[in-house]
Amino acid sequence: INVTIQADEAKAISPDLFGIFFEDINYAADGGLYAELIQNRSFEYSSQDHPDWNFFTAWELLQDGGSCRLALESESPIHPNNPHYLVLELEGGTCALKNGGFAGIALQAGESYDVSLYARTLAGDIDGLKVRLEGRLGENLGEVALGRPNAEWQKYTATIQATGQDTFARFILFIEGAGTLALDSFSLFPQKTFHNRPNGLRADLAQVIADLEPKFIRFPGGCLVHGDGLENMYRWKDTIGPIEHRREQPNIWNYHQSVGLGYFEYFQFCEDIGAKPIPVVPAGVCCPNTGAKYTGRWEEGQEGLPMDDMPDYVQEVLDLIEWANGDPTTTWGAKRAEAGHPEPFGLEYLGLGNEDRITPVFVERFKMIYEAVKAAYPEIKVIGTVGPRPSGFDYEEGWKVAREFDLEMVDEHGYKDPEWFWENLERFDSYDRSSPAVYLGEFAAHDMGRKNTLRSALAEAAYMASFERNGDIVQLASYAPLLAKNKYTQWIPDLIYFDNVRITPSINYYVQQLFSLNAGDRYLSTDIASGDAGDKLTLSCVQDSDSGDIILKLISRADEPLNVSIKLTGLESIQAIAQCTVLTGDPLADNPFNNAFRDELDTLPQTMEIQVSDSFVYAMPAHSLSVIRIKSQ
Ligand code: AHR
Repeated sequence: INVTIQADEAKAISPDLFGIFFEDINYAADGGLYAELIQNRSFEYSSQDHPDWNFFTAWELLQDGGSCRLALESESPIHPNNPHYLVLELEGGTCALKNGGFAGIALQAGESYDVSLYARTLAGDIDGLKVRLEGRLGENLGEVALGRPNAEWQKYTATIQATGQDTFARFILFIEGAGTLALDSFSLFPQKTFHNRPNGLRADLAQVIADLEPKFIRFPGGCLVHGDGLENMYRWKDTIGPIEHRREQPNIWNYHQSVGLGYFEYFQFCEDIGAKPIPVVPAGVCCPNTGAKYTGRWEEGQEGLPMDDMPDYVQEVLDLIEWANGDPTTTWGAKRAEAGHPEPFGLEYLGLGNEDRITPVFVERFKMIYEAVKAAYPEIKVIGTVGPRPSGFDYEEGWKVAREFDLEMVDEHGYKDPEWFWENLERFDSYDRSSPAVYLGEFAAHDMGRKNTLRSALAEAAYMASFERNGDIVQLASYAPLLAKNKYTQWIPDLIYFDNVRITPSINYYVQQLFSLNAGDRYLSTDIASGDAGDKLTLSCVQDSDSGDIILKLISRADEPLNVSIKLTGLESIQAIAQCTVLTGDPLADNPFNNAFRDELDTLPQTMEIQVSDSFVYAMPAHSLSVIRIKSQ
């Protein structure tokens, strides 16, 4: 196999090509990346989230010598967006409320946890409140008194330093006295969060994401954005401000959104890891309003916001841009500043819609929003949507609309089997360069009943090499979905699996990481003569202008090793030792969370040094991705 790389024949490609897509699916947010440890903290759970759930889900009433009754009330709540609260009637003695967190509360010995809750005495005499963190066997791992509630809603706060470690601890509130007490908006939050942000992210999980060094983050969905009915669309304004003022709502993936991880936290995370934010807003339409949650049956209908509501909705989208980029003298810029971020976030992109049916209802609303955004903020790049799958229904219509509006970019998705990826490596070569650019907002190779296999990861690598080759038109790309809590998945495969204490990146994660950490901004012309092995391997070659490094990525799905003769032309001079990282193994090696007895991957990338020159032979292992990083002298 002969490969020729011509460094003097290069084209500029997107420097932002590889990023991530975060959707609150598979318990990615609550119980996942968002570090809150109390589940159903505001008693807003209901059967709309999940048929088996109600306001008391995740809680338990313990009566030890005392006698008490509980009810759900909604008169004079802390905030209208947070309408329900719990009422306890105590006849005397001590009662307790227990919260088991998201399948247990993981505590670390010596770490500090901030406790808070709102309380109000409605009648009688409540003597006092006390919080205890208890181990799985009932051992006391730290407790604190919160004081005596009074007749108005008041926030009670304290800190507990855990005296022991437990992965299955629980939170207990003891209430003493005789009377009626209202309770709402509980929180148990580790002080140690990613970048020590208050109301922040689980540090270890956020770090694994940060280690991908994504150039951008698309959020908060996916189907979550357009939601299950007009009432369920993701409205960014409901997700900012004090957590007890945010409007919680059902999650289309059959659970709940506390929106504690809201727009401020998303933007802040982007900034913390040096990624550009790509918020996606609904295009004024929702998923089919079947009332049946996520069904995958997009074709069954679609509802648009009433036209009378559209001017307000358009304004809501414009306000988002002002909130992100306006200076603190603007109405919405002031709110961002109040939240602790006076500097603008530097929003460049806005996603408008996700996998929507391209109907007249959609187009009418899309046009209103798009034209208003462009009139007020011509510099914002609006990303349209082209339907759910490459060549699926509404794909062509989506592209037609994108061309009519002359959009900067279109979000295209692709979930296919590994073979499809290998067969479509030339897909983007023929894309019209005068058309909108492409954002591969969601892609993943689904193998063997949707497992993460090395074969799927290599198919994705091969496809990603084609993104680099077409990096002038394919400008952004992100694998989907990103996160999955073990035993709480609605969608597999995913990139990173976790439970309350463990994190296992999939094999596919390492492919994403290798591409992201070895991205370039120039694509060097490559020519390959591979004879019979032609459909078994592919490659790409980029240069990173900052370091000057030439980065060659070779992907093979051959069962045998292949010798590749590589010729580099048009270069001044290169260092003789290059770094070579190889991911190889059994193509059917799968993700450990598929197997209860392993929690570490067998297949991991290995880095070594190899000898290179302007003409060298590389022995490419069977079923492999090799990333060769060559330094100039
Ligand atoms: O990534 C999972 C889902 O796949 C997304 O929510 C949706 O956009 C797509 O259908």
